[in-house]
Amino acid sequence: MGNSVIEINSKNGSYPVIIGDGLINRVDTFIPEKYKSGKILVVTDVNVNRLYAKKLSLSGEVYFYVVKAGEKSKNLKTVEKITEFMLDKNFSRTDLIVALGGGVVGDIAGFTAAIYERGIDFVQIPTTLLAGTDSSVGGKTAVNLSKGKNIIGAFKAPVLVVFDTETLYTLPEEEIKSGLGEVIKYALIDGKIFDAIDKEAIDLKEVITLCVECKKRYVEEDETDLSIRAVLNLGHTFGHAIERKYGLKHGVAVGEGLRIIVKACYDKGVLPKDEYEKIIALFDRYGVEKFDKPVADLFPAIKFDKKIRNGKLNVVLIKGVGKCEIRKFDVEKFGAFFI
Ligand code: NAD
Ligand code: GLY
Repeated sequence: MGNSVIEINSKNGSYPVIIGDGLINRVDTFIPEKYKSGKILVVTDVNVNRLYAKKLSLSGEVYFYVVKAGEKSKNLKTVEKITEFMLDKNFSRTDLIVALGGGVVGDIAGFTAAIYERGIDFVQIPTTLLAGTDSSVGGKTAVNLSKGKNIIGAFKAPVLVVFDTETLYTLPEEEIKSGLGEVIKYALIDGKIFDAIDKEAIDLKEVITLCVECKKRYVEEDETDLSIRAVLNLGHTFGHAIERKYGLKHGVAVGEGLRIIVKACYDKGVLPKDEYEKIIALFDRYGVEKFDKPVADLFPAIKFDKKIRNGKLNVVLIKGVGKCEIRKFDVEKFGAFFI
């Protein structure tokens, strides 16, 4: 099978998401000509740098900025240091940033691109399952404050996304598991994805393509996350609280958050038994873990969710595979639905 190419229409122009095998040493062929006479800054982390920096084909005046791996790098200090590096190298607005790595690098590089000299173009080269199916597409970029995740951010669409699925061969098992959290989220949102993963032999490229096509539909309708895009946050209200409170990987925490939502929807009669059992069987097949503490322990963290508006918390509920509903809860009373 050849490459999949999905065109995402953004209000600042459209961009292709190219998914295929062995693309990392052909990235140059996808980069628009206008960037090849300028400077390119590749932002990556130590692990990805070691594995892929030499394989990445780029022409022109190319610099690398390497951050420590992991969520701890996703802060304003890192962004400040990158912008200082760019200024030292005389980067201007017509130059380019390339994010090479997982969601952490994508968020750091994307946010830097959004603010450097009021905006410079950037390319996403995701190398994790989570980044290739979710975070590299849709233009959300952000860094964390010590008091909250993704608090400082911007919408900044990339000009190109290239996902070489062969990079997944070097991804540690625990990171595959984390990426599966987001893939399973997509499977609950879109029945086609559910069917594509609810079997023994899955076609990974097909699944990744379906996830990106699903994200495309929500992002194109609601790019700045004011309405329907919130569906993509299925499992995230609890997932973000688990991630922050217990330091779990993003996708693993999202998986546990999905289990909390699915159980509550079943208990409260929103999700019928046959659909509930079908979803639980999928969770079990992929080893999505249960949150093993009282759900109420998460309520204090959720009260600070950045999506609370006028005292109302938007939570995505599930009525069946492919049938989600955004429900507004009073922030002081939402807990009753989940215990
Ligand atoms: P990550 O970027 O921390 O990568 C996980 C680990 O895998 C790192 O140690 C990294 O060095 C290593 N790695 C990356 N690619 C590799 C490869 N091919 N081979 C071997 N090792 C590799 O984590 P992630 O799960 O990709 O991303 C999580 C982040 O994404 C979180 O900060 C989350 O908030 C963010 N996110 C953003 C969006 C968005 O729309 N912007 C959506 C979902 C998640
Ligand atoms: N990952 C959720 C979103 O992009 O909206």
